[in-house]
Amino acid sequence: MRNFVSVHDVSDINALVKKALKYKADPFCDRSLGRDKRIGLLFLNPSMRTRLSTQIAAQNLGMEPIGFNVDKEGWSLEFEEEAIMSGHTVEHVKDAAPIMGKYFDILCIRTFPSLKNKQDDYSELYINQFIRYSGIPVVSLESATLHPLQSLTDIITITEHLEALKVHRRRPRIVLTWAPHVKPLPQCVANSFAQWINAWGQSEFVITHPEDYELDEQFTKGASITHDQDSALKNADFIYVKNWSTYKDYGKIYCYDPSWMLTREKITPTNDAKVMHCLPVRRNVELSDEVLDSANSVVTQEAANRVWAAQAVLSEILNSAG
Ligand code: CP
Repeated sequence: MRNFVSVHDVSDINALVKKALKYKADPFCDRSLGRDKRIGLLFLNPSMRTRLSTQIAAQNLGMEPIGFNVDKEGWSLEFEEEAIMSGHTVEHVKDAAPIMGKYFDILCIRTFPSLKNKQDDYSELYINQFIRYSGIPVVSLESATLHPLQSLTDIITITEHLEALKVHRRRPRIVLTWAPHVKPLPQCVANSFAQWINAWGQSEFVITHPEDYELDEQFTKGASITHDQDSALKNADFIYVKNWSTYKDYGKIYCYDPSWMLTREKITPTNDAKVMHCLPVRRNVELSDEVLDSANSVVTQEAANRVWAAQAVLSEILNSAG
């Protein structure tokens, strides 16, 4: 593996999950793999889980991680080719990224979409510019349209429960449900979850959302899509709760309907479903306290598994680099 920016960088999802679970069982078994190597963690947006878990994963492999809040501590970066830099941007990524390539062995980047210009966001300009100009492997810590480390973590968590629930004789029913939120959020987590679950191909996959919240078909193709949340949730084994803003009429909130919040009542007709969320979560807006605080919620396990997902990915990159 050279870069890790989407499921397309992974040749065998189950093998990567197996590797992550190997690290979960024995975190320091590859302590020498990253010895004398340095990893840069660049943040153009806030993060708690991604930042800490990737740092721990790198250290478990013997790497030295250095975090840098580009948005708060760095020069304001320009990403447009042939930009006339007479505005607020101070340094072009063309100049900054090759320097990162000299400082680090692997570069990890978190960016968010503007939610204003769909074409720019969906071209993944920021992360692609770092790939183009850094000259070293690049790992997405969430980009404008995808969050692959989160999605790998989600499949690791589902896999752990598949074994515990012994539902191997049938494909698990996995439901991605839209939830209300107070502000427009990116489609990244939902896009990425759909992309990975479709590529994994081992479930009955249903997506439910209000009208006009269709995601980009390039990620959802293969899933059943319905506006009827109650029917979608029936017999669910896993419920993945997430808000996203509109994709078609880009970056808007059309629906404030609180009835889309996941409550105890809604999980009653499920197969005692495990409830997932990438976090951070707005309690009693997206998910009710009674669900989040119940035995059905696996959100803490899911967040803890972020370490093993990151460790498996970094290990693949280090092994490929030789
Ligand atoms: N799920 C997730 O990416 O969390 P952070 O934004 O805290 O990194």
